[in-house]
Formats: sequence, structure tokens, C-alpha cells
Amino acid sequence: MAKVMIWDLPLRLFHWLMVATVAIAGITGFVAPAAWLDIHLFAGYALAILLAFRLAWGVLGSYYSRFRSFPLAPRSAFRHLRSLLRNSAAAHTGHNPVGAWMIIAVLFLLLALVLSGLIVLGGQENLGPLGFLVDFQTGWRAAALHEIAAWGLAGAIAVHLLGVFVEARLLRHPVVSAMITGNKLVTRAKAKGQGRSYKARGLTLFTIAALMLLGGGKMLASIPASGWKPVQTPAVYSAECGDCHDAYHPSLRTAASWRGIMSGLSDHYGEDASLDAETAAAMGAFLAANAAETFDTEAAWRMGRIDTKSLRITDTPYWTARHAGIADGVFKLSSVGSKVNCNGCHRDAASGRFADQDIHLPNLSKLPNGSQK
Ligand code: HEC
Ligand code: HEC
Repeated sequence: MAKVMIWDLPLRLFHWLMVATVAIAGITGFVAPAAWLDIHLFAGYALAILLAFRLAWGVLGSYYSRFRSFPLAPRSAFRHLRSLLRNSAAAHTGHNPVGAWMIIAVLFLLLALVLSGLIVLGGQENLGPLGFLVDFQTGWRAAALHEIAAWGLAGAIAVHLLGVFVEARLLRHPVVSAMITGNKLVTRAKAKGQGRSYKARGLTLFTIAALMLLGGGKMLASIPASGWKPVQTPAVYSAECGDCHDAYHPSLRTAASWRGIMSGLSDHYGEDASLDAETAAAMGAFLAANAAETFDTEAAWRMGRIDTKSLRITDTPYWTARHAGIADGVFKLSSVGSKVNCNGCHRDAASGRFADQDIHLPNLSKLPNGSQK
């Protein structure tokens, strides 16, 4: 028997870095508030790099890191499970047959999570490397997949931990220390030329994976997002319609709703906001040309395209639901004034984007205790 390095150093580093990254992604994905989205995205990008490295390492790593060495014959998995029931499972030098399948499943789920996450980000927020490619509906469907894969991964992790418990506690195979030191006690015949730690090769591959993904991602992310376009707002629109409240981004109402609003300006929510015919016509044309139907953003789909009897944006179910947790007092603060002043809290209201990262609640210290959720 000899103590031989079975899990090379790059594989062990990958394993523990992935544990930390998945933990951060899980916490920020399942429980943290929307404003933590940045950290979730950061963990997602780190996972993408780690995954790319692991896939390459499955071909170029040391013997037991290679996918080719995985004992994937279904019969050996059944044999292993049967011997577990008889409490006589043999120790395996590399992965045991059930563990090997688990790793394939986990890698597959992680890949699904990273890809669906990028599709959600691109489709729903018009951000990230796929922002130029994915439309809102596709992002919406991918969000369901992202959630299913997240629960699938949570289940796979539970099974993995159960497997480690069975191996380490019941069968007394030192699998945990092996994933830390890399070493296992094996007969010389089984050592398969292991022993080196493959540090330099691992570092090189990891660097290549990181540079390629970061460089490629940045390049793709710099392509203008599909579904969103910059709008040239006529000065007269900002001046006239921004006089009493936020001058709304045209994507927040349909062309039909805008026509309704423009034709009723003499009795506009109790105010007289009438304009001369020429100004009104020019403004109407601007609003119709950039109405909700011409945008593929979350704001345009969830609020803009939803017509309301009052013609209000703030009467759409999505607006009501997203702002239900905000106390009345916050809307009445002098820096906001009223719920109709979107730009009091959304720094990017003028662009029509309404991104999570650009929400900015006004100074709450002026409020009585507990008036904000
Ligand atoms: C004289 C002041 C005044 C002017 C000018 C004005 N509005 Fe308004 N607008 C109001 C008031 C008051 C409300 C209702 C506010 C409230 O409920 O707190 C309102 C509400 C709205 C709403 C609905 C907001 C919601 O609750 O979703 C829209 C849309 C709107 N205005 C569009 C326009 C457009 C377009 C123009 C320019 C043509 C314009 N307004 C000019 C006073 C004005
Ligand atoms: C008093 C501040 C405030 C005002 C005024 C306000 N919002 Fe918000 N809005 C928020 C907050 C806070 C959230 C995040 C709520 C959450 O976490 O679900 C939010 C969420 C949103 C979202 C979802 C963003 C996303 O990416 O998930 C949209 C869209 C939105 N608001 C549009 C509007 C529009 C349109 C108006 C004006 C008619 C408006 N808001 C006025 C504070 C405000």
C-alpha cells in the first residue's frame, strides 16, 4: 500500500471554490432582496468560469479527474447500490459508480443554471452577454427553468451530502480528507501513475478559461441590447408633460392609451393640461412612435402593454404589486411628491429601463419608524 495523490490540486481547488460560489448564488437567489442582484450575477459569472475549467480538466486533468476514468456503466452503479445495502461496498480509488453519476448530474445542472440565468438576464433586464439576442418572452420562460434547475441542484447537493455521510461514517472510507489533502492509501498497482499535483497545468487552463469567458462575455455585452432603444425626447415633451409630474417614458403606455390621454387633456385627472393643436399633434406622434408596442423590455411588457380604464400606469397589477410594500409616507416625501413621480425613486426612469440596480429610495430617516416595509 502507498499514499498516493488521487485528487490533483486544481480539482480540489475547483471543488471548494464551487462550494463557496454555489452557496453565495443560492443565498442571493433564494432569499436576498432584489437589490442584491449584482452579487448573484457575480457568483453566476464565477460559476461559469469554474465550470469551463472543470469541463476542460475532465479531458486534460490527471487520470482520476478525467471523465474517461469515470465508472459510468449502469451495472456497476446498481452493483454499488446493492453492496451498500449489504454494508459491504468496496472503497473506490477514484469516484465510486454512484458518485460519478452524481458529478455528471451536478455539472449538468450547473451548466443549465448558468445558461438559463444568462437568458433571464438578457431577456428580462436587457443586460449581460445575451442582452442583444434574447427577447422578453424567452427570458420569462427561462426564469421558470432557472428556478427548476436551482431546486434540482439543491436536491442533488442533498444526495451528494448523504453519499459522503454514508461513505465517511458508515463505510469509514476517508473521502472527506481525500478531497482536502488529495491523498488516498491505495495498492501500488492502482496508483495509475498519479502523484503529481499538476499545479502549472491547472493554473494555465484556469487562466485561459477565465480570459476567454470574461473577454467574450464583455464583447457580447457591449452589443446594444435588443428590445431597448434610446429615444430622442423632444424638449417640448419634457417641458409640457414634465411640468406637474415625471415626463413618462413612451414605452409605459400603448399607442392607443397615449391617444386617449392626449385627447382628454382638458380634463386630465382633474387638471386642465390642454395644449395647442400643433404641439399636441407633434407630441402624439412622438409617443405613438415609441409606445410600449415598440419596446421589448420588462417595463413595456408588464405595465406599458397593459391598458387600464383610468389610462394610468399605476393601476396595472404589476405596478401595484411591486410597490405594495412601500408606505404612503415614502411617496409623500418632498423628494418624491407622489407615486406618479417615478424618477423620484428610479434613477433610470427617463430611459424606460427600471433596472433593479437603479432603484433608490429617498432618505428614510425623515420618516416615522417602521413606515417602510
Ligand atoms: C397641469 C398639470 C399636468 C400637466 C401639464 C400634465 N399632467 Fe399628467 N397628470 C396630472 C395629474 C394631477 C395626474 C394625477 C396625479 C395623481 O394621481 O397623483 C396626472 C397623471 C398622468 C398620468 C397617469 C399617471 C399614473 O398614475 O400612472 C399620465 C400617463 C399622464 N399624467 C400623462 C401626461 C402627459 C402625456 C402630459 C403632457 C401632454 C401630462 N400628463 C401633463 C397633471 C398634469
Ligand atoms: C417611492 C419610490 C418609488 C416610486 C415613486 C416609484 N417606484 Fe417603482 N419601485 C420602487 C421600489 C422600492 C421597487 C422595488 C420593489 C421590490 O423590491 O419589489 C420598485 C420597483 C419597480 C419596478 C420593477 C423593477 C424590476 O426590475 O423588477 C418597476 C418596473 C417600477 N418600479 C416602475 C415604476 C414606475 C413606472 C413608477 C412611476 C409611475 C414608479 N415605479 C414609481 C420605488 C418606487
